[in-house]
Amino acid sequence: MTQVIHDRLLIIDFGSQVTQLIARRLRELNVFCEIHPYQNVTEALLKEIAPKAIIFSGGPDSVMREGSPRPPKAAYDLGVPILGICYGQQVMMHDLGGRVEAGEHATAEFGRAYVTPTETRPEFLNGWFMDGTGKEQVWMSHGDHVAEIAPGFEVFGTSPGAPFAITADLERNFYAVQFHPEVHHTPNGATIYENFVRLAGFTGDWTMGAYREEMIAKIREQVGDNHVICGLSGGVDSSVTAILLHEAIGEQLTCVFVDHGLLRLNEAEQVVKMFRDNYNIKLIHADESDLFLGELEGVSDPETKRKIIGKLFIDVFQKYANEIKDAKFLAQGTLYPDVIESVSFSGGPSVTIKSHHNVGGLPEKMGLKLVEPLRALFKDEVRALGHELGLPASFIGRHPFPGPGLAIRCPGEITREKLAILQKADAVYIDQIRKHGLYDEIWQAFAAILPMRTVGVMGDGRTYDFALALRAVTSVDGMTADYYPFSHDFLGETSTRIINEVKGINRVFYDCTSKPPGTIELE
Ligand code: XMP
Repeated sequence: MTQVIHDRLLIIDFGSQVTQLIARRLRELNVFCEIHPYQNVTEALLKEIAPKAIIFSGGPDSVMREGSPRPPKAAYDLGVPILGICYGQQVMMHDLGGRVEAGEHATAEFGRAYVTPTETRPEFLNGWFMDGTGKEQVWMSHGDHVAEIAPGFEVFGTSPGAPFAITADLERNFYAVQFHPEVHHTPNGATIYENFVRLAGFTGDWTMGAYREEMIAKIREQVGDNHVICGLSGGVDSSVTAILLHEAIGEQLTCVFVDHGLLRLNEAEQVVKMFRDNYNIKLIHADESDLFLGELEGVSDPETKRKIIGKLFIDVFQKYANEIKDAKFLAQGTLYPDVIESVSFSGGPSVTIKSHHNVGGLPEKMGLKLVEPLRALFKDEVRALGHELGLPASFIGRHPFPGPGLAIRCPGEITREKLAILQKADAVYIDQIRKHGLYDEIWQAFAAILPMRTVGVMGDGRTYDFALALRAVTSVDGMTADYYPFSHDFLGETSTRIINEVKGINRVFYDCTSKPPGTIELE
């Protein structure tokens, strides 16, 4: 067995929409953590993970509701530091003998609030309350509040709606805060996590160099002499997966690049060329666009599109897998956010927004086992790994592209005509972004063709063509995003170029919705 032990931190998820951000903050501190939905956290799991510290996430429930989420009692007896956040604080107080009260208008707090310290400053608050204002901005989102702290706890910070905003039992190393230190609106929040992991004795042993070596050994162990098929999309995730596998098992890897007809302009040729020119990897270019576009004909519901594409991907892989002798494994570039989202889809606490198709949909009937070497990583960590593996910077820096491709950038019914227009318009848009030197500042940019035609006038003639939406966002991990503030000059120039250069578009909109409340893709 490959045994590479990192210090591990367990995050028990009570259903907050921002639980993943806790993991982000910890990874930034080179601390390895795992998120598990509260239902899955049994005594056995605690034993298996042997966490060096535990964090209770926030969540939408009320601890006073019968049957509301709880950690196992054993968590408190492990003798490891615990940090409770928002609902996590309330759970901790409730479980340990304090009292929580239902939200009233006067004590509920949503949004920005200011915490002021009490007399004593524990080490947990090192670096806080230092800027001379005597307070710290935090982000609150709670209806219920702690009315009485549990025995052994003291108060170290208060806000107008949360008299117990920061509490701790210093003896047991239990910390509990009412606000969310993981979000950007708590500007000094990372310090809380830094202090917590330091107090818990983490050494920051989670690095990409170590991860690469560990994964190569794990892949070799998992795969043995068997053959692996890797679905290549040309995106960063699948490219890093392929190269990591190639490094681990060389000739035992065959990559299958499925062209579903929903790729960007000339993308198929570029991806194939990049892999054939730079790597000695066996690569099958499967042009299955007729199959995919045929099945999608007449379909306009976003979830149905995703399901159809997900299923066809599997069918196509199966077809090629059958042709490859000894193929027993399928490698996928599944990332940690996908893992978390699909865990919560099947019974976890957070609400389903979209069913990303790359995880969970693979039926056992495929007869292939999964190799998912990026399962523990966030997007920016995958980029760091790509860098570590020597992938060209132009590839590492590519904007993410969703598995269902242009299907979800073509709201409503997909037609070949619309796709061809979209491909051209998207190419002009991206060219503009590159020409203006903005590509690397933007996390993801793309065009979407809207399911509407509008009237225009070009020359002396009337036009009745499609409208196009342009989208560009900044983000760290795709979980939250801000729309990119292009200048009006840029938008005007881009709109003119698209309308002049792309037949079929006569109107261009810029989408200035952030996430939330929007999502990045239109569907
Ligand atoms: P949303 O639209 O959910 O997108 O805000 C967040 C990130 O995920 C990508 N995305 C997908 N990726 N399969 C994928 O592989 C999907 O079904 C899917 N839907 C969205 C999206 O491009 C963005 O980077």
